[in-house]
Amino acid sequence: MSALPIHTGSRLFQVVADMQGGLPWGHVLDAGTGRGSMNWLLSLPTDSWTAITGAQSMAEQVRRELGERQRPQDRLVVGNWTDTQLLQGEQFDTVLADYLLGAMDGFAPYAQDQLFARLRPLTGQRLYIIGLEPYVPYSADEPAGALVVEIGRLRDACLLLAGERPYREYPMDWVLRHLRQAGFRCLDAQRFGIRYGERFIHGQLDMCTQRLRRLQDRNLALALSEHVETLRRRALALCQAEGGLRHGHDYVICAQAA
Ligand SMILES: C[S@@+](CC[C@H](N)C(=O)[O-])C[C@H]1O[C@@H](n2cnc3c(N)ncnc32)[C@H](O)[C@@H]1O
Repeated sequence: MSALPIHTGSRLFQVVADMQGGLPWGHVLDAGTGRGSMNWLLSLPTDSWTAITGAQSMAEQVRRELGERQRPQDRLVVGNWTDTQLLQGEQFDTVLADYLLGAMDGFAPYAQDQLFARLRPLTGQRLYIIGLEPYVPYSADEPAGALVVEIGRLRDACLLLAGERPYREYPMDWVLRHLRQAGFRCLDAQRFGIRYGERFIHGQLDMCTQRLRRLQDRNLALALSEHVETLRRRALALCQAEGGLRHGHDYVICAQAA
């Protein structure tokens, strides 16, 4: 899988917790699970959790993370939201879609517009969406932003050349519009500035290096590998000088089953 956005610690999950206020979490659906959201869910007083992933490899990672912490009422399921039978007839008090929308292109391309209608009958009370404002298609004026965009573009180019589908992020406005169309009432929506660190730089550029090993045209692979390392040096230098690369926004949306 491709470009996992960097969670700025547990800050965004804390925002979700603040939006939830005193409401009980009840039966929870993690509609796009991973180690981050699972670890957070495990810290909450839930009646049960059901975690969905489209990838067997992700399920294995989450299972390893879980260890002994899964209760009899909890489920980790590999499935695809395009499957109409998945969780059919079930309902959850709280649904979390943590960086799910942006990852959908790899699992259900061009079905992003149907995600919220798909989640609507499953949502008893609240749906929380954590997402990343698209940045790869936009140019940035600031040096830090320009580097983040350059990294994102190079990463997506390497993924495409290796035959994979990069993530496709959607803006908060798009999400709010589609939530309303799907019958949700939006209660809150907030954006948070991102400061990318060395983990992001190495993570994204290592992903490039791995994908370049698969290229048949070794001259192209070599030229791109050299470009990756030059970009890594430039990005690390600015990151150290400025204490991170500040660019773009994450968002958190709270919606109620209307
Ligand atoms: C970026 S990861 C989510 C990150 C995760 N919440 C975490 O904290 O690490 C996206 C997740 O959504 C899942 N996903 C994406 N599209 C899907 C689809 N159409 N059906 C089911 N799962 C999907 C992926 O398999 C993956 O588990």
